[in-house]
Amino acid sequence: MLDMPAIRHDLHKIYDLAPNPTLAASMTAEYARMARVVSPADWAMHAPYVAAINALKKERNATILAHNYMTPEIFHGVADVVGDSLQLAIEATKTEADVIVQCGVHFMAETSKILNPAKTVLMPDMEAGCSLADSITAEGVAQMRARYPGAPVVSYVNTTAEVKAASDICCTSSNAVQIIRALEADTIIMTPDQYLAQNVAAQVPEKRIVWWEGSCIVHEQYTAQDIREFRDWNPGTRIIAHPECPPDVVAEADFSGSTKGILDYVSAERPERAMLVTECSMASNISDAHPDVEFIGPCNMCPYMKKITLEKVLWSLHTMTTQIEVAPDVADRARLAVQRMIDLSAPKA
Ligand code: 13P
Ligand code: SF4
Repeated sequence: MLDMPAIRHDLHKIYDLAPNPTLAASMTAEYARMARVVSPADWAMHAPYVAAINALKKERNATILAHNYMTPEIFHGVADVVGDSLQLAIEATKTEADVIVQCGVHFMAETSKILNPAKTVLMPDMEAGCSLADSITAEGVAQMRARYPGAPVVSYVNTTAEVKAASDICCTSSNAVQIIRALEADTIIMTPDQYLAQNVAAQVPEKRIVWWEGSCIVHEQYTAQDIREFRDWNPGTRIIAHPECPPDVVAEADFSGSTKGILDYVSAERPERAMLVTECSMASNISDAHPDVEFIGPCNMCPYMKKITLEKVLWSLHTMTTQIEVAPDVADRARLAVQRMIDLSAPKA
């Protein structure tokens, strides 16, 4: 566990991190992307960290890959690439930086390392896990294979490198339907998200999909009753749900898609009011680019994603810790599963 008081003490000895309204006022381009959701007083606190991180990135030839669930000051202030799990994996294959700082959760950093074994991949807080990745081991994959002999295993990227290595192919919420349709088998094992599997099964009725019973602690909390009550309370609001939500929640929604799918839908439809049935930072991060859309709660916070802060990103880059390592034999097998997914997701020429 990180000793934050000691880290804070050391950082303040090296960098000038006191709230700085003058510096904040000079960083207008960054602030313009989050002014709707970050107050000027908060920006004055974040700006010294943002400036220090961006300078250190250049020194280290580092790139920051940030998931759509990062807080706005990370997402708009220091990230070089933002996106959903698939976009971040694809971008990890393209980067020319020596160092990747993963602003997201542990499985994302592992995916970056699997795709870039020669690069340094830094995780600002190793405790940024995921309830889905925690729900299954390679032994669990073996159990599913024994139960359904011959069925291919499609594992969500929200899994450890060992689970990816034990799988035939990976998927994300943005390409799961495409991947399942592309497989020849009639019976397909999906791990570890039971709800993603059920939501995919509803769209691909010609296949028999069996699943592991994991779930996301953020999305499993929503109920169909919540959505119906919300509609009654606020009629006309466009309800947009992530496919990690239970199927009856997705059925009540106007649209369901990955975090990139949600962004694309809002950009195309520009609804007057929208409720994003997902992690809270999603709406915050797209709010300034969509001033004509009113984003209405409720939303749920991912305690793992929220472990990543500007302070920890600065410490990570300063000390070059914690470096992600994946055993080469595991990485080689996991890379096959991830690369197959990337290849199958590429738009057809
Ligand atoms: P996507 O960004 O791929 O939709 O995934 C959401 C998520 O929960 C990542 O942990
Ligand atoms: Fe895992 Fe859910 Fe958090 Fe994503 S939102 S990292 S799936 S616990």
